[in-house]
Formats: sequence, C-alpha cells, structure tokens
Amino acid sequence: MILDGQSPEAIAEAVRVLRAGGLVAFPTETVYGLGADATSDMAVGGIFKAKGRPADHPLIVHVAAGIKGTEALSRFAQPLPPFAQKLVQAFWPGPLTLIVTRQPGVAAAAAGGQDTIGLRCPSHPVAQALLEACAEQGVPGLAGPSANRFGRVSPTTAQHVHDEFGDALPVIDGGACEVGIESTIVDCSRGAPVLLRPGLITRAQIEAAAGERLSDREVLETPDPRASGTLEAHYAPNAKLRLMDAKAIQAGLDVLGPGAAHIAVWTRAEVRSHSQRVLQRRMPDDAVASAHQLFAVLREFDAQGVKLIWVETPPDTPEWEGVRDRLHRASMG
Ligand code: TXA
Ligand code: MG
Repeated sequence: MILDGQSPEAIAEAVRVLRAGGLVAFPTETVYGLGADATSDMAVGGIFKAKGRPADHPLIVHVAAGIKGTEALSRFAQPLPPFAQKLVQAFWPGPLTLIVTRQPGVAAAAAGGQDTIGLRCPSHPVAQALLEACAEQGVPGLAGPSANRFGRVSPTTAQHVHDEFGDALPVIDGGACEVGIESTIVDCSRGAPVLLRPGLITRAQIEAAAGERLSDREVLETPDPRASGTLEAHYAPNAKLRLMDAKAIQAGLDVLGPGAAHIAVWTRAEVRSHSQRVLQRRMPDDAVASAHQLFAVLREFDAQGVKLIWVETPPDTPEWEGVRDRLHRASMG
C-alpha cells in the first residue's frame, strides 16, 4: 500500500504501525529505507525477516534533526569524538552515516549485536516529518536498511519498494530519491575516520570537515566482514553486468550485429547497434546525475528481461567514486 508522504494522516498512520512493532518503508534523499522502531528488538527482527538479511548484519538507525536528534544521539551513542561531532555539524541532515560506539543496552538487534551503531540523519523532508512524529510518540529512531531484498539493487521510488515487497507493506511516497545511491559511511569508532562506503559526499569533503586524514577500510587491522554494503557482490541486478570502455562495447555490438538481443547498454559515449532489440540509455556526463539514475536504470533493464548489461566504466575521478563502487559490486553479482 502506497501512502502519500505529503499527508499528515499518512504520517500518523505510519507512526501507529511503527509503534505497534510493524514495518513501514520511507523515502530518504539517498534510497528508500525499510523502517522499524530501533529500540524494539522484536520490530527490528521483522526487518531481517522481510529482507532475508542475516541477523548479524547491522542496520543504520535514522534520527530526527534538531533537538530531537541530539537527544537520540545520546540515547543510542556514547559521546562522539570531536572529529565525528564536526562531521555531524557539517553534513547532518544529509547523506552521511556515522559508525559510533553504541550505548550499551540499547538497539542491540539493530546493531547486529555489535558494540557500535550506525547513525544517520536524513535530509528528506518526508523522512524528517516521520522521524519527528515518531520521536514525539516515544520512538527515538528508526532502524532502516535499504528497502530491497538482501543483495539486490536499492529502491529509489515508492513503486520499486512496492514491486519488491507487495501490497502488505506500507510505503510512504516521497518521490524519486534525489541522490540515488546510499549514504557515505564513515567509521568514527576507531579514533580516526575510516571510509566504509563511498557516496555523494567525497573523501575531500570529509577530510576538510573532520580536520583529519580519512583512511580506507583496507587498512583496518580488523576489517568488519559484517558490513554488508561492503560485500563484494552486492547491489546486483538479475542480468549479468559488465563494465567496459566505450570502444569495447562498440566492438561487442559490431560483432553481434543485427541479431543482438537481450542486451542493454548504458554509456556516456555514443555507441551504435545494428539491432533494434538492444536497449540503449545514455549515462549523464555528470557523476551526481548518474548516481540519481543508476538504480532506476538497472531496474528498468531487469524489468525488460535483458540478460546482459554493458556499462561504460565511469571516469577515475573522486566525484565518481560512489557510482564506480556500486557498478563494480553489481558486476560481481
Ligand atoms: O543511504 C542509506 O544509508 C540507506 C538509507 C535507507 O538510509 N540505508 C542503507 O542501509 O543503505 P543498508 O542497511 O542497506 O546499508 C547499511 C550499511 C551496511 O553495509 C551495514 O553493514 C553498515 O551500513 N553498518 C551499519 N551499522 C554498522 C556498524 N555498526 N558497523 C559497521 N557497519 C555498519
Ligand atoms: Mg542495502
């Protein structure tokens, strides 16, 4: 069931469901989340079940902005190190998730049993309206992974969520997600910032705001295998996805000729096929615009039943890192 995010009654209905331990999908500026009361281990158990996600994979907890958010921070997390406070100042509300030391005894299921917790304050107005209303009714945060089945492409519209979970799940419609790829994740629980997942907010922006060097997860002595956004094969469409340069894609299309079928291509350069049955979409030259389209394009190709997706490798520049990361993982699926 799709609910109108602009309607106060819809928000009130969502809060009722959440307070009763149920699940509600909600929009954020990155992707849609599958929400449950983060303080109820039973409610959070429903997320793992619905997603088919292993119970030791930690979830992100979403909190409201402003004073409610500050209260939630101290409820879920131990006092933040100064560099993490600077990141909160600079980027919240917005597409940045911080991994911080958890307050013992709270949100254990949401944290997948770890002694850290992922916190994020989304900027989407509908998400904020929902989180505010939840906080007022005694639900200080919503555990919310991306609202897709485990290992699949994240949803960027209410319809995507509906397609995956059916009519029984209430989905609050907030339009197409502006950012289109999941939040940047920075681990702040190890004394210095570590980038766990690239996103719209770049390394340079994080380093400037934190006033510290940002390390890569590869340098961790105890890398965290349970961070599922960091699994190699993730975000996979049903079709096989290959990253190639434009010349190789053109050469492949030339070899297949007029008989080419069940293939889709997503390229910045113009490529030509002699087959009407090759699906072609242009990737924008701009990284932000490409991120916005990425998951919707992959879902569209899947819906058309293609078997192969050829994507032109994005430029090797910092602003493309989030898109490159998602495409690389999709190509491992
Ligand atoms: O943009 C986003 O972050 C979206 C929207 C809905 O907010 N959420 C999202 O959630 O992408 P999810 O669960 O699909 O990805 C969260 C990632 C996972 O890779 C998870 O393992 C990692 O964050 N994570 C969460 N808590 C963690 C923790 N305590 N330690 C390490 N990794 C953690
Ligand atoms: Mg996900």
